[in-house]
Amino acid sequence: MPIRHPHRFGKNLENLDPEVNPYVAKIKENLDKLPIYLGDKLHGRPGTWQKEISTLAQNPLENLYLEIGSYKGKTIVDYSIQKPTDAFIGMDITLKRIYLSADKANKLGCANCAWILANGQILNQLFAPAELSGVFLFFPDPWQKKARQKKNRIISPEFCSLLTQVLRPQGFFWFKTDCKEYFLEGTSFLNAAGLIPQLEQEPHLFKLQSETVFEGLFKRQGLAIYSGVWYNNKDTVCP
Ligand SMILES: C[S@@+](CC[C@H](N)C(=O)[O-])C[C@H]1O[C@@H](n2cnc3c(N)ncnc32)[C@H](O)[C@@H]1O
Repeated sequence: MPIRHPHRFGKNLENLDPEVNPYVAKIKENLDKLPIYLGDKLHGRPGTWQKEISTLAQNPLENLYLEIGSYKGKTIVDYSIQKPTDAFIGMDITLKRIYLSADKANKLGCANCAWILANGQILNQLFAPAELSGVFLFFPDPWQKKARQKKNRIISPEFCSLLTQVLRPQGFFWFKTDCKEYFLEGTSFLNAAGLIPQLEQEPHLFKLQSETVFEGLFKRQGLAIYSGVWYNNKDTVCP
């Protein structure tokens, strides 16, 4: 059951029917064991994530990164294994994907990551100003079949404005897609919000490697991949 509504955190588990979605029971059973955050567990979190994940990892962590649309967790798990001194958060809108991600990370012993069930359109309700060092958005649903579906795209002028708030000065936003038209539209919204495009396709100071699940799929089909990085100019960060 996707949590698509942008203006609330999503339902608490007590209000979800385990008969309809088997992952309700799985998450309930493992809520103490797995770092899954949803519903009321998201309240009061802005500004605390670094400390929260450092406590989980039993290690003071340096930078905080977020992937919006983390699917089954591959990229966040790859990154958190390569950089155990940083904190990583995967966010998605389905219980199943969040549960599978948290379970996989736990089995692999990745203690420096956490998983949020929420809609990426409410970034400012989940993170404090300048809390994030980087945000990844890899292969978001392109909503391109019909003109009226475009309103569902996550990159909008409002979303870009939220990015300028939650990214720290010089923090980056990394966007990859196979949809050229979405890439061009996203580019114009990101530039208009005051984010500064970088010429290279990958962030120059972020050297971790991962091929996302959809990236692999599209590459095997011989499709072109459009990738761009934008930096938060410190002048655009909220006071
Ligand atoms: C096409 S998949 C890409 C997954 C992964 N990033 C990759 O590259 O392999 C898009 C993912 O975004 C999630 N998603 C869609 N809308 C979202 C939103 N508004 N906020 C957070 N996640 C969202 C979907 O549930 C899905 O897991």
